[in-house]
Amino acid sequence: MSEVWSNTEFPYMCVKDERRTPAFREAIRSTVRPGDVVIDVGAGTGILSFFAASAGAAKVYAVEIDPVSAAALRRSVALNPAVGDRIHVVEGDAATVDLPRRGSSSPRSSRPGSSMSSRFRY
Ligand SMILES: C[S@@+](CC[C@H](N)C(=O)[O-])C[C@H]1O[C@@H](n2cnc3c(N)ncnc32)[C@H](O)[C@@H]1O
Repeated sequence: MSEVWSNTEFPYMCVKDERRTPAFREAIRSTVRPGDVVIDVGAGTGILSFFAASAGAAKVYAVEIDPVSAAALRRSVALNPAVGDRIHVVEGDAATVDLPRRGSSSPRSSRPGSSMSSRFRY
């Protein structure tokens, strides 16, 4: 079983990057079309999910393995209902989480199984 590296501070360092974050915003604005379904793999703070939802995505699956980051992201989503209503936080490993197939409305589970925590390393 492989380990997953993460650091709860790293996503915040990414957001503060004044060249990177606006560049991603422009890329998402020019790529995401109204009604798209988007998967944000390794969502961290969820900044890219918010950009995608702001660009008109009908649904954004924000997949985040770090429980602390996922909890903070759920709070950010709740505090920003205008776009947050279209962001669904999925806590777990992007390699194994169960996302809905076309025609299905929600994943079977958006919380991790107990096996994930033993792979998680800060
Ligand atoms: C560098 S941060 C980027 C955050 C955000 N996407 C951004 O661009 O600002 C990478 C994030 O991916 C998460 N991550 C790493 N491996 C993951 C995995 N296998 N499944 C889901 N999330 C993962 C980390 O916990 C971290 O929050």
